[in-house]
Order: sequence, then structure tokens, then C-alpha cells
Amino acid sequence: MNDVAFITGATSGFGRAAAHRFAEAGWSLVLSGRRGDRLAALKAKLSEKVAVHTVVLDVRDDQAVAKAVAELPDAFKRVRTLVNNAGLALAPQPAQKVELKDWHTMIDTNVTGLVNVTHALLPTLIDIGQGATIINVGSIAGQWPYPGSHVYGASKSFVKQFSYNLRCDLLGTGVRVTDLAPGIAETEFTLVRTGGDQTASDNLYRSTTALTAEDIAEQMFYIATLPAHINFNRLEVMPTRQAWSAFAIDRDD
Ligand SMILES: NC(=O)c1ccc[n+]([C@@H]2O[C@H](COP(=O)([O-])OP(=O)(O)OC[C@H]3O[C@@H](n4cnc5c(N)ncnc54)[C@H](OP(=O)(O)O)[C@@H]3O)[C@@H](O)[C@H]2O)c1
Repeated sequence: MNDVAFITGATSGFGRAAAHRFAEAGWSLVLSGRRGDRLAALKAKLSEKVAVHTVVLDVRDDQAVAKAVAELPDAFKRVRTLVNNAGLALAPQPAQKVELKDWHTMIDTNVTGLVNVTHALLPTLIDIGQGATIINVGSIAGQWPYPGSHVYGASKSFVKQFSYNLRCDLLGTGVRVTDLAPGIAETEFTLVRTGGDQTASDNLYRSTTALTAEDIAEQMFYIATLPAHINFNRLEVMPTRQAWSAFAIDRDD
């Protein structure tokens, strides 16, 4: 039976690129996201190469997540790699100007959604044991503070610490856990963050060389196919043209 990857947020960006990358290597795929039309298009394309099962799924809905996992067709039940990728940033303005509902949406998606999917698939992954992999998509924002990151960065810190803590509990099961933490990457991420502002998105990626979705998909595939005795705890990936900046100082003049 083929290896199975379960990818959340497969309708765009890293998740969609990961679907293509794993398909290239012959993996069977469970692809999820909220946009059914995009899932159908992806399935039509990738089914030429590999077995694909799609689920229209909002990761925030724990019942729907549990049902989707319980109802996986037999050929897709033995999930070997979970790519917990679905996530978003909203409200790039300062914390004091953000609407509370945007903070809730980020927590519900990046934190609650990620634990919903993890909880539903842990028994399967533990049953697979050696070589099973959970790739949690964190962010450099989970490690480094920057203005406007507020709850987004904090939610990705959760992803990092949850990944480390899972490793402690999963010791002896063979299941690996990685916090994959990308830097700036050109996807629909900034369009979502700015509420559909194409100019803001274009400006962010202007005149530089950001990571591509395919760059991150390649890292996902690499992590999932490492020899079974190797676990990358955290992989932080920036484009060469991104680095940290000076501390900000509030001055009188
Ligand atoms: N791009 C970057 O610079 C960057 C850097 C570091 C980390 N990240 C992280 O990488 C991950 C993927 O982001 P991306 O850059 O590929 O952005 P993207 O192109 O906007 O893709 C985000 C994906 O998440 C899915 N998603 C969002 N909310 C969801 C929900 N409630 N339920 C199910 N799926 C949901 C979206 O699908 P639907 O809308 O169809 O549901 C979409 O497929 C996110 O966790 C993000 O925080 C991105």
C-alpha cells in the first residue's frame, strides 16, 4: 500500500505545493481545506498520478475533523505523514487597533484547528509508528517578535511549544514531530492578512526574493522522508534576503 499524507490547507500556498510534491513521489493524498472548488480542481489534476481523497473541512470544527478522519476510505486510513498547514494571519495593524474577532479567528484556526487535527490522527500515527511524521507549520513569528504580529506570532509560538511537548509524550512510539517555521514566502498569505489588498501583498514581495510555496513543500517532503531515526525538532527557513533588524527605541525627539 502507498504511503498516505494528510495535508490541511491544501487549496493554496504551501499546502497545495506539498500536494504536488508528495504526488510526484507517488504518495496517496488526503487533501483538505474549506474551498471545495479548489480541492476538486487539485484532485482532477493529481488523480492522474496518485490516489486522492478530498475533504471540505474547516479545521476549527472539531466534530467535523473527527468525522473526516473516522470516515477516511480504507485506502487512505493509514496516514503516515500529517502536514498541519492550515493557518492564517489577520490584522497586521498594532494590537490596540485590532478587532477581537480577528484574534479569535487566528487562535481558533492556528491553535485549536491544529490540535483538532492532531488529536484525531494521533492514534493512526502511533499505530504506524516508525517513520510516522507530524509536520506542524509554525513561523519565524513564533520565535521572533515584530510589530503587528501580536496573536499571530503567539499562535505560532504555541505551535512550536506544542510540537516540542508532543515529542516528549511520543517518545518510544516512533512518531516524529517537527515545527517547520518559514520566513517570508509568497503565497496568498498576505492577501488574506490584509483582507484582500493586492497592492499591499505585491508591495511586501516587491524587489526581493521571497521563499516560494515549492521551497517549503520541498522541506516538508524532506522531513517526511528522512531516515526513521532522525527527527528535526524545528526547521526555521528564511530566504537569504531576509534577516533580523535593529531593536526599536522610543525617544523624546
Ligand atoms: N506565507 C508565509 O510567509 C508564511 C510564513 C510562515 C508561516 N506561514 C504559515 O504557513 C501556513 C500556510 O500558509 P500559506 O502561506 O500557504 O497561505 P495561504 O496561501 O493563504 O494558504 C492557507 C491555507 O490554509 C487554509 N485554511 C485557512 N483557514 C482554514 C480553516 N479554518 N480550515 C481549513 N483550512 C484553512 C486555506 O484554505 P481554505 O481557505 O480553502 O480553507 C489555505 O489552503 C499557515 O499556517 C501560515 O501561517 C506562512
